[in-house]
Amino acid sequence: MSAAIIDGKAFAAELRARIAVHAAAFERAAGRKAGLAVVLVGSDPASEVYVRSKGKQTIEAGMASFEHKLPADATEDALLDLVARLNADPAVDGILVQLPLPAHMDETKVIAAIDPDKDVDGFTVVNAGRLATGLDGFVPCTPLGCLMLLKDRLGDLAGKTAVVIGRSNIVGKPMAQLLLKESCTVTIAHSRTADLARVVRGADIVVAAVGRPEMVKGDWLKPGACVIDVGINRLPPADGAAKGRLVGDVDFASASQVAGAITPVPGGVGPMTIAVLLRNALVAAHRNAGVALAAGAI
Ligand code: GUN
Repeated sequence: MSAAIIDGKAFAAELRARIAVHAAAFERAAGRKAGLAVVLVGSDPASEVYVRSKGKQTIEAGMASFEHKLPADATEDALLDLVARLNADPAVDGILVQLPLPAHMDETKVIAAIDPDKDVDGFTVVNAGRLATGLDGFVPCTPLGCLMLLKDRLGDLAGKTAVVIGRSNIVGKPMAQLLLKESCTVTIAHSRTADLARVVRGADIVVAAVGRPEMVKGDWLKPGACVIDVGINRLPPADGAAKGRLVGDVDFASASQVAGAITPVPGGVGPMTIAVLLRNALVAAHRNAGVALAAGAI
């Protein structure tokens, strides 16, 4: 293996430590803790694990965590009422409604109900538009975490060619916007792109967020490329095993022979998402309370 391994777990731990310092300073200045509300509808086991982890890390960072659980058969109106109450609550700086929602709820409508200044997921049309037009706003946590890892590894990204594989509103599109803002030459590829291997071979930076296990192979890569793997896919269990292995969208074994640097799965991008969520919530708290925070401090 020749690639350097990008340790997202360690980077996220350092980020959380910096957040804790600023959260304590915020509490002294504002006379209250920064607050993050997380709403979970139903009892999807993966979502429950994720929400528990968010709550724990919020408290460890010295922020207030407000958890709201609604039953799977709650009405959409009940959820919209809760979002309206959180919008109006001065103790709540950031609101996250855990996705996916049950099928009888309209995600677009629910996201649109969140106050854009508390939208720490960066999912509202207002924040997507702010990002697309270069205005300050909240950026979705996973792509912002990927950008932090890329800048830490590569420094200035200007002039680099970047290929983002995946066009979701949560990762692919905002990732492309962020790289464009850094003056990269950006291509957005996806599952229907013709000759994807050829497109990827031109890239100094590859961000894979397509949701297909081990799709990107080592021989697709430009030697020395920096590879960020957003995928988390569980393979079918091998004989006798209770659970299958977790793998990314990149074939790590072959890619790590060619790439200059690569994120592992798990332990790469995954741990960054919650750390960036805490960062966004703390930025929201400073704005909402009118407390200054130096640009780029966290
Ligand atoms: N479900 C899985 N990841 C996320 C996330 O980052 N935000 C929200 N709201 N739901 C999710």
